[in-house]
Amino acid sequence: MEKELKVSKIRNGTVIDHIDAGRALHVLNILGLNGSEGLTIAVVMNVPSSKLGRKDIVKIEGVELRQDQVSKIALIAPSATINIIKDYEVAEKVKVRVPPVIEGLLKCANPNCITNQPREPVKPRFIVRSLRPLRMFCSFCGVELSQEDVIQQLTKGG
Ligand code: CTP
Ligand code: ZN
Repeated sequence: MEKELKVSKIRNGTVIDHIDAGRALHVLNILGLNGSEGLTIAVVMNVPSSKLGRKDIVKIEGVELRQDQVSKIALIAPSATINIIKDYEVAEKVKVRVPPVIEGLLKCANPNCITNQPREPVKPRFIVRSLRPLRMFCSFCGVELSQEDVIQQLTKGG
């Protein structure tokens, strides 16, 4: 018999499931949560998953995510599903989605890029070339932004 790590169901709130193994804390960081808010949160890491091999899960009682938060989660956990729980039932389930073009959310790593010139009101824009591994290129200077760069930028201030 397979051993399973049991985590309670939540009553109302959000379950972020199918997170790439090891990235649950990045997800919490993106959401600006560290436990001091007093919210009930369950974090499960590296559990077996039929789709991903291993996965992480984050459950947050009493919270629904904003669209901008979901967009950021997609960039570090492209297989994640967001489950909205109401009265113990899954009321809504959405798969996150990485758009083919990402505008305004991330900064170009090239200091000489036009998007980094203070006098040029040019919004950064990246073209996504692959999801696994995540690869994207600045549409102005062509410089690549790696998955690590993306994680670093998104987890700075939450
Ligand atoms: N969940 C929870 N509390 C609830 C209901 C569901 O924590 N009251 C969690 C489940 O443990 C699971 C996720 O929310 O991690 C999605 O639930 P469900 O859709 O029932 O599970 P699956 O069918 O396995 O989901 P999927 O098809 O997305 O893998
Ligand atoms: Zn650039």
